[in-house]
Amino acid sequence: MGQLSRLESEPEVGEVIVSEADLQARITELGARITADYAGRPPLLVGVLKGAFMFMSDLSRAIELPVETDFMAVSSYGSATRTSGVVRIVKDLDVDLADRHVLVVEDIVDSGLTLNYLQRYLLARSPASLEVCALLVKEGQQRTAIDLRYVGFHIPPDFVVGYGLDVGERLRNLRAIHAYSGDPSGR
Ligand code: IMP
Ligand code: MG
Repeated sequence: MGQLSRLESEPEVGEVIVSEADLQARITELGARITADYAGRPPLLVGVLKGAFMFMSDLSRAIELPVETDFMAVSSYGSATRTSGVVRIVKDLDVDLADRHVLVVEDIVDSGLTLNYLQRYLLARSPASLEVCALLVKEGQQRTAIDLRYVGFHIPPDFVVGYGLDVGERLRNLRAIHAYSGDPSGR
């Protein structure tokens, strides 16, 4: 282990759950699988803001196909850390999905309610295909059946930060996935 950066030494930043090296190695593997699976039909990558921005950046560069990228921003009603399953579209897609092979790029699946809503929303726009690539899935938390074609890591159901994931908009710029030792609902 190298020296802790100043950010990693912040008091509420806990242990590493997925290291930077493990993230990058897994993303290389996912990129190779997606490259093989989508040969001849480059997907439209749909990143879910804000949490997936860093994963989208690395995953898209691990795919050796002429992909297109777009982003959606959603906010779920509920408390800071508990989603209610009611999702508001804050930024919609810029492109038409008809006849497109859509691959949703998501940071983390907790209850699965956000993704379940998004899948139904996107399917209503008649894509040629719709699959999901989620970097993280919290074990035993899913309250709805969702079909995840690509998963980076299964992790314990504790709150995590870093690599795009935030607490109150902070700590997204940690290079690894860390446990969060503060109060996730607090400031
Ligand atoms: P779900 O609808 O319960 O699956 O929640 C999914 C969304 O909640 C994710 O896209 C994240 O934005 C957020 N989320 C869930 N767990 C965490 C976490 O441990 N840290 C940061 N954000 C999280
Ligand atoms: Mg998200």
